[in-house]
Amino acid sequence: MAALHQAIDGGVNFIDTADVYGMGRSERLVARLRKERSERIFVATKAGRRLAKQTVEGYTRENLTDWVNDSLRNLETESLDLLQLHCPPTDLYYKPEVFGILDDLVNEGKIQHYGVSVERVEEALKAIEFPNVKTVQIIFNCFRLRPAGLLFEQTKWKQVGILARVPLASGLLTGKLKRETRFDEEDHRNFNRHGEAFDVGETFSGVDYERALEAVEQIRPLVPTGASMAQFALRWILMFDAVSCAIPGGKRPAQVTENTKASELAPLSADAMAKVKDIYDRRIGPLVHQRW
Ligand SMILES: NC(=O)c1ccc[n+]([C@@H]2O[C@H](COP(=O)([O-])OP(=O)(O)OC[C@H]3O[C@@H](n4cnc5c(N)ncnc54)[C@H](OP(=O)(O)O)[C@@H]3O)[C@@H](O)[C@H]2O)c1
Repeated sequence: MAALHQAIDGGVNFIDTADVYGMGRSERLVARLRKERSERIFVATKAGRRLAKQTVEGYTRENLTDWVNDSLRNLETESLDLLQLHCPPTDLYYKPEVFGILDDLVNEGKIQHYGVSVERVEEALKAIEFPNVKTVQIIFNCFRLRPAGLLFEQTKWKQVGILARVPLASGLLTGKLKRETRFDEEDHRNFNRHGEAFDVGETFSGVDYERALEAVEQIRPLVPTGASMAQFALRWILMFDAVSCAIPGGKRPAQVTENTKASELAPLSADAMAKVKDIYDRRIGPLVHQRW
């Protein structure tokens, strides 16, 4: 709660959550935040991951309506600001009837807008063919450049919002992680390094840990005096005008303060932007570029 309040104090007015984060607990904490604050706070939540197994057949009218009703209850609201499909199977983007169900939920007033959270650029390109998809949430950071190609061109043209998730590459781009860093047992950075539990791209952006640490050392000298590497990494994202919002996962008030201040940094130099691209092209791209 302290971290959430710190975010609002720092000018944040948009929070990304999901029905499965703490199985409703995250949504309930956000509801509490909204009650404790007078500012208008926009909340994006997600649906789909409560399925025991990810199948296209699971995205029925009944299930989608139940998930939305549960989120409405948890968030203590009459209408969701933004509902995102939570990384559904690729084939779902070839099922217009699912997007028809979402249109019906908008018409019923249960949701204001809907969007998608995706793993791959190709899924996003397919999703934005549906005219009422308003946002795409996708991994985008100094170690994940592919969205900045065709996808950003298309979303800008179609006026679809981009939510840049995992902006710090799970903490790598804060510059604080080391070879010997250990993570809690229930932390995905401990158990999903090789995609054991879910898509490997969600952990450290899918980059081999040792190789990523070497690339971090090459980025470090680019950080302007007075800024932290986390701020540099977030400001780098905001240099792309296709991006509506970066959604770093700050856990503690101090992290949140540091992250929110990133938007106050001066624009990064063309030289710094070119150097990040060069580090990516030489060290990271060959490992991951074709995958997401
Ligand atoms: N499929 C999906 O739709 C999906 C999947 C993943 C994430 N998301 C969304 O994206 C958001 C961000 O993802 P993420 O949290 O996995 O990745 P991230 O923002 O790249 O990394 C967050 C981690 O970095 C560390 N950190 C954050 N700010 C810091 C700072 N200023 N200084 C030092 N360390 C800092 C924290 O870890 P420690 O302090 O523990 O080191 C935190 O857990 C999530 O909150 C969620 O809303 C969505």
